[in-house]
Amino acid sequence: MSDEKILIGVIGGSGLYHLDNLTFVKTVNPETPWGHPSSPITIASLPSGAKIAFLARHGVGHSINPSAVPGRANIAALKSLGVRAILAFSAVGSLREEIAPGSFAIPTQIIDRTKGIRPASFFQDTNVVAHAMFGDPFSNKFVKWLEDKVAKALEKEGRGVKLFTEKCIVCMEGPQFSTRAESKMYRAWGGDLINMSVLPEAKLAREAELSYALIATATDYDSWRPQSEAVTAHEVFKTLKANADTSRFVAATILEELQEAITGENASTFLEEVGSMKFSIMP
Ligand code: ADE
Repeated sequence: MSDEKILIGVIGGSGLYHLDNLTFVKTVNPETPWGHPSSPITIASLPSGAKIAFLARHGVGHSINPSAVPGRANIAALKSLGVRAILAFSAVGSLREEIAPGSFAIPTQIIDRTKGIRPASFFQDTNVVAHAMFGDPFSNKFVKWLEDKVAKALEKEGRGVKLFTEKCIVCMEGPQFSTRAESKMYRAWGGDLINMSVLPEAKLAREAELSYALIATATDYDSWRPQSEAVTAHEVFKTLKANADTSRFVAATILEELQEAITGENASTFLEEVGSMKFSIMP
């Protein structure tokens, strides 16, 4: 296995601005045709010597609001380093009673409630018309692999953090939280989780033919519960630290195995997005 290539990118969301148990190598700040990424990217090595790239989605000091995250620069910068698989983390609201704040979830579906103000395609403003396949917005094989590995990591951590799988995440524009009526509507639509960040990130990863999966960490119950206060940023902050600690534990536990999965003999089936854009471009 070469330790020169950086195959894994990790995107940290609110509260997750660095990882643990890795050896710092350097930071890089690639300039892409879409500008610089949200923050300089930290290159760090795993115990085996393989390197990974870590990017803080909202900037290191959380200075970038979700609508202004430079999604195209982030994905292009990671791809320029050689990244093939992105493991993203995001704080989310819960739209289901059983997904209590502090729980983790791995979604398989997305409802797009962003308002068209985020550049969501690398083909925008070009003369190429491309329609990426997006029925399964996360990488199926990566998600299946992750469900098993994250469950084991959470068990190993022993803090009783629950993992939910096959959930549907609503991505809203923000920066204000939803109204109570919207929150109830998202539940009626089948939404289980809500955040402001999974799009256009997942769409851009697909256009870049990168495998992409999300670990969603629940911070609040949004605003659908009739007897409860509506979500506030203060409530979100209360659970951020514990969720970030658990996210770091999970990453430290699974990244080496992820490196093996994407370099081992089944790598080509794991990285199923490679070549997926071939028939997306209109002749
Ligand atoms: N991120 C964390 N909690 C959220 C919520 N309730 N709505 C949207 N994004 C969130």
